[in-house]
Amino acid sequence: MSKFTSALRTGLLPCLALALSAAAMAGEAGPARHAAIESMGASVSAYKDYMLNCGGCHRYDGEGVARNAVPSFRNSIGLFTRLPEGREYMIRVPGAAQSQLGNAELADVLNWMVANYSPDALAPDFRPFTAGEVGAARPYRFDDVVAERRRLEARLQQMGLTPAPYLYGSN
Ligand code: HEC
Repeated sequence: MSKFTSALRTGLLPCLALALSAAAMAGEAGPARHAAIESMGASVSAYKDYMLNCGGCHRYDGEGVARNAVPSFRNSIGLFTRLPEGREYMIRVPGAAQSQLGNAELADVLNWMVANYSPDALAPDFRPFTAGEVGAARPYRFDDVVAERRRLEARLQQMGLTPAPYLYGSN
């Protein structure tokens, strides 16, 4: 990462976090929140990182590949940000945790994904993923990712929310 992009990154994230917390106080659909989410989704470096590291399996439109048990992100992945364990799950799934991306890049990709594929499902008080959060959760691999997904799905369902179908491990 060049000095320039790292300066941009350290400058940008606190601004986004600030805009989002102001927006959270103003209510779910505030224009400040909308602008902050839009700007996360407009990151060109995150777009490229997603396409190179995730898009092969998750597809360019985030639709996944049902026959290969790659779940869709569309109108779904943002739901996981409503639970602290859901945020961790997004970082710790093998495709994310074991990617080549650095912690800051992975944080940007997760922010880009939720902003583009699932902005309406985000937690009302959503805060962007940060390099620190990613670095803290990432080393802890799941013994059983399927069981964790089922647990999260059940929690979300209790909240009246339904994430995309998850077929991994079911055959
Ligand atoms: C080799 C194919 C592959 C690649 C590459 C890949 N994934 Fe995945 N991803 C999967 C599969 C299969 C699942 C379902 C099994 C699981 O939960 O690990 C999944 C699940 C996920 C989930 C959980 C979705 C849900 O609804 O439960 C997230 C988040 C995720 N991947 C993020 C990423 C990110 C970010 C990248 C790129 C840095 C990435 N993945 C790269 C195959 C891939």
